[in-house]
Amino acid sequence: MSEGETAKSKGFRGEMIAVISAKGGVGRTVVTTNLSVALSKKNVKVGVIDGSFQFGDICLALDLHPTFSIKDVVESIDELDSFGLSGFLMHHPSGVKVLAAPDRPEYADLVTPEVISKACDLMLSQHDYVIVDTGVGLHEKNLHIVEKADQIFLLTNLEMATMKNTKLMLDTLELLGFQSKVQVVVNRSNMESVIQASDVPDILGVEIGLYIPNQFQIVSQSLNVGIPFVVNEGKSDVAKAVFKIAEHLISRREITFFKPKTPNFLQTLFSKPKVL
Ligand SMILES: Nc1ncnc2c1ncn2[C@@H]1O[C@H](COP(=O)(O)OP(=O)(O)O)[C@@H](O)[C@H]1O
Ligand SMILES: [Mg+2]
Repeated sequence: MSEGETAKSKGFRGEMIAVISAKGGVGRTVVTTNLSVALSKKNVKVGVIDGSFQFGDICLALDLHPTFSIKDVVESIDELDSFGLSGFLMHHPSGVKVLAAPDRPEYADLVTPEVISKACDLMLSQHDYVIVDTGVGLHEKNLHIVEKADQIFLLTNLEMATMKNTKLMLDTLELLGFQSKVQVVVNRSNMESVIQASDVPDILGVEIGLYIPNQFQIVSQSLNVGIPFVVNEGKSDVAKAVFKIAEHLISRREITFFKPKTPNFLQTLFSKPKVL
């Protein structure tokens, strides 16, 4: 990425990734935290929004002790600019900056679509990637997040109930016209189940390229101590899978940056006619 294209540029907008699932406990927080830290190792600026506004646990998973949260965005929404927002972000040693969820569930109601929009826009003006963890399902707040996102990572695992709900969620996202932004990520892809990872593309009717293996001890230990496994278990299969997703995102972004730009309508209209 060239200097002129980093998050510091005026009018810059980073890439927003929403991490969603149709059921709780599928791994949104694990993926959000580890993917953000994996990306930050690639010399890009990464921000995280804890969009699980009632029971957010991003800070717990990163061992951060939030003094500010999105509730502070609510309280200063009219005058807030990107400088003001920076003051509300929690700094992880990896370089990842986190906009925490409110510290009490009852404050979640204060986070209106307007607040979500402003928080996302300000975060995107300062970071190459903004990854948003979410609450379960497709309620109003999540719909707002997925609408704003450039990419939606829909997490599933191989459990029958998760698969059924993932299928319903995919259908709904398709109805809403978001299909092209959705990538299904199969988490715990080698867990014991009647459904095999290889069955998932047929069940869901989509191609799947992103799989994260099941390594319960490493993952649960990492959550309990608040150190992402990509930090100190970087050679584990689960960390390698997350690094691969980070690579995939970076390479996509480079392709977008270096793709020759197609001229816009006005450029075409005023371009010199070719001399034959
Ligand atoms: N790849 C994985 N391998 C093993 N266990 C996992 C994996 N991903 C998540 N888990 C476990 O699943 C549980 C729920 O993960 P979490 O990220 O908190 O889910 P969510 O945020 O979707 O509710 C955690 O206890 C975690 O240890
Ligand atoms: Mg969570």
